[in-house]
Amino acid sequence: MKKILFAASECVPFIKTGGLADVVGSLPKEFDKRYFDCRVILPKYQCMREEFKNKLEYISHFYMDIGNKNQYVGILKTEYEGITFYFIDNEFYFSGQKPYGDLLWDVEKFAFFSKACLSVLPVIGFRPEIIHCHDWQTGLIPVYLNDSFQGGEFFRGIKTIMTIHNLKFQGVWDVKTIKRITGLNDYYFTPDKLEAYKDGNLLKGGLVYADAITTVSNTYAEEIKTAFYGEGLDALLRARSNDLRGILNGIDYTDYNPATDKHIKYPYDAKNFRKEKFKNKKALQEELGLEVNERKFMIGIVSRLTDQKGFDLISYIFDELCSTEDVQIVILGTGEERYENMFRHFDWKYGNKVSANIYYSEALSHKIYAACDAFLMPSLFEPCGLSQLMSLRYGTIPIVRETGGLKDTVEPYNEYESKGTGFSFKNYNAHEMLGTIRYAIRVYYDRKREWNKMVDRAMAADFSWGVSAKKYQEMYDWMLGY
Ligand code: ADP
Ligand code: GLC
Repeated sequence: MKKILFAASECVPFIKTGGLADVVGSLPKEFDKRYFDCRVILPKYQCMREEFKNKLEYISHFYMDIGNKNQYVGILKTEYEGITFYFIDNEFYFSGQKPYGDLLWDVEKFAFFSKACLSVLPVIGFRPEIIHCHDWQTGLIPVYLNDSFQGGEFFRGIKTIMTIHNLKFQGVWDVKTIKRITGLNDYYFTPDKLEAYKDGNLLKGGLVYADAITTVSNTYAEEIKTAFYGEGLDALLRARSNDLRGILNGIDYTDYNPATDKHIKYPYDAKNFRKEKFKNKKALQEELGLEVNERKFMIGIVSRLTDQKGFDLISYIFDELCSTEDVQIVILGTGEERYENMFRHFDWKYGNKVSANIYYSEALSHKIYAACDAFLMPSLFEPCGLSQLMSLRYGTIPIVRETGGLKDTVEPYNEYESKGTGFSFKNYNAHEMLGTIRYAIRVYYDRKREWNKMVDRAMAADFSWGVSAKKYQEMYDWMLGY
């Protein structure tokens, strides 16, 4: 039995801010249980979902030195859908209202978490062959392992993988502060290790010291080796290109299934969507106070409201789109204040055409995936993207920019060969996007049969974990020399 430990800062169903949580929560279930014992370790946030918080079982606790502090490390445990989850408890660090906030505090919090992830292993008696680290919050795990832990017999030979879900966030602060917080000595703060552009960089530490690096789509794996997408680390990623691979994310086909989804009023499948899907549209129009009319072309957006997702393009053309086209637009998201306010403004301005829902809601997100005709995701960059996969699963046609995982998962409509599962455009340009939305609207109103055939193809596309989980298994085997 090969033992794998996932270390991450968020995970469905306990705590989620974005796609990372979906991946960490769904991938371990997909490994072949005869060969892999995959467990997950997370922070025990005060703000995690209440119903799970009460079910955690206390295992043990001890005190750990980190930087100039001596900190409490509690270990809790639970089982969920056949997977063992460990939680690191420390109220000093994890009692905030949200998992992330002030960056300096986050750097200290996740340095603590990373060291604690290693320190607890002998206590719980679980020695993973591979620690699979996700994003900058766990970037110090390979570093600490190399620094001190490898010296002990228990840890010797443990391998690490660093998976990049988003290269934009790296956990950066000045060297002096990072040294103080982490307790790492001068040796680590040179440009070939944790130092980048004179600062200390936690993700870079992970990328330098991990045995292998992955990211969440093939195209993003190529893109991050270029200056435009590389966020300052492209040279390092080029240098490590032999150890870097792209493995596309999947989604949980049980949680996201229009035939059994508890959040939607009218379940449907690939056979009856022509009759049933639009009932969900009417129900949502009613719920959100939009004009109730099944013929309206309804566009959905479910997203963190940040620059990454292309909201500046949307802001340029929103008025033009709403004043010239017969559309309805439903937004669900939270994030940067300027985008939250922008959508509130458009909601006020376009009354029963636009509905802005500036909050987080699992239920409403499912209703949007089910009810809309199209889903807009014009990202500036997108490591993989899960929302477009959820849309495809619900027969909601994605309109995307050709970047990262969006390029790898949405096949552009080809009207001559009747192929494709969505619409896409290449350049990061607002009018190129608007032209593509208009093209989608024309196909929807003028060639309904063609549109429905595209929905057939979208719903038949398979983005469950099957293939990708096997690729991770192959990589684990390869790293362990099988
Ligand atoms: P990212 O991880 O960059 O945010 P993804 O497309 O990979 O983008 O994943 C986003 C996930 O977060 C999806 O599961 C999406 O449904 C969910 N999501 C984003 N914003 C909200 C929200 N306001 N309410 C509910 N779910 C949301
Ligand atoms: C990140 C990326 C997103 C990806 C998700 C899960 O948040 O922005 O593209 O789907 O991680 O890997």
